[in-house]
Amino acid sequence: MLQSLEKLPPDPILGLAAAARADANPDKVDLTVGIYMDETGVCPVFEAVQRAQGMLVEEEVSKAYLPPVGPEAFNTGMRALVFGAQHPALRDGRISSIAAPGGCGALRIGAEIINAATPGARVWVSDPTWPVHIPLLGSVGLQFETYRYYDPQSHGVNFEAMRDDLKQAKSGDIVLLHGCCHNPCGADLTLAQWAEIADMAEHQGFTPFIDIAYQGLGESLDADAAGLRLLSERLPEMIVAASCSKNMGLYRERTGVTLFLGHDAENADALVSQAAVAARRVYSMPPAHGALIAGRILEDATLTANWQQELASMCERINGLRTQLVAGLAQVTDRDFSFIERENGMFSFLGLSREQAVALREQHSVYMLDSSRINVAGINAGNIDALVQAVAKVL
Ligand code: LMR
Repeated sequence: MLQSLEKLPPDPILGLAAAARADANPDKVDLTVGIYMDETGVCPVFEAVQRAQGMLVEEEVSKAYLPPVGPEAFNTGMRALVFGAQHPALRDGRISSIAAPGGCGALRIGAEIINAATPGARVWVSDPTWPVHIPLLGSVGLQFETYRYYDPQSHGVNFEAMRDDLKQAKSGDIVLLHGCCHNPCGADLTLAQWAEIADMAEHQGFTPFIDIAYQGLGESLDADAAGLRLLSERLPEMIVAASCSKNMGLYRERTGVTLFLGHDAENADALVSQAAVAARRVYSMPPAHGALIAGRILEDATLTANWQQELASMCERINGLRTQLVAGLAQVTDRDFSFIERENGMFSFLGLSREQAVALREQHSVYMLDSSRINVAGINAGNIDALVQAVAKVL
């Protein structure tokens, strides 16, 4: 029976990351998968994570199961981190949460809950969106519509088109929004635009589902969550998928959380009970290690300060790299790349064709996605010239 199954092509993101790893050229430039890399090309472990991990190893006396929603300190900390510690809905018990295996697991649990409420619900996704959104939510049985989002001409959000498309979203529909640092394009909504989305959700009755995998990598932890918080102050319900992969560097520990804003405390409680049952039938319960680390950081004021400082300097470095890349490209080409500085987070579309992206990797060992999405955080002083020169050659 199993012989009928064919070998599948590699994942478009992870496959290219593997190809970059396998390239023997010592001057290769890997801008594929969205991980933060420091000046030496290493994805570092946060000092706060090392310290929290050390404490946990010292203290741990058991590996027994944790509660199905994950560690309490993690849930409490993540609710405050995402919604803001003073959010009235927190005080009113309208926010519940469940730890999940990474941001993907958090999205999947959100999808399970949507499908339990409205089987086969319509999910509006931005064009483009992170490619994994589709199989991740679609395999639960949800259906998709796209709304126009990125304008390759202006390299920004085409908000008029987005608004026009979302006029068709109605009660029972889900609108999937990137909380910040849009993946793949880096172009985010302004606060005024978030307010317009809130108006539309209020009038039309659709439910926002927010993927905020990159909180803290755009401007700051609070500024990056401002749009989401604005929606949550005005709407009766929403779902959020958050992750500590990027902002705590816990990638391989698979540390995510699904958060529910319910109509009232009873509804929030019902939603998380459904989520626990959904998790039980898929993977039983979330991994503990990363959630314990994140929980410890978030409950300990010294570790929190330490972590926030490290994160802020990463964010600053990424934004500095954006400036340097724009300046470097301006020296080798007349094409305007200034948009790179206006974007947020790790990603940018360089606006190259697929053929140019392929030529970059085949002829110059410069790896980016076929869409010309680059991970800005993969650039450093040692590879920026090679990148700029290679781009100039394929243009
Ligand atoms: C990315 O888009 O590169 C990251 O979110 C990593 C992944 O799993 O695709």
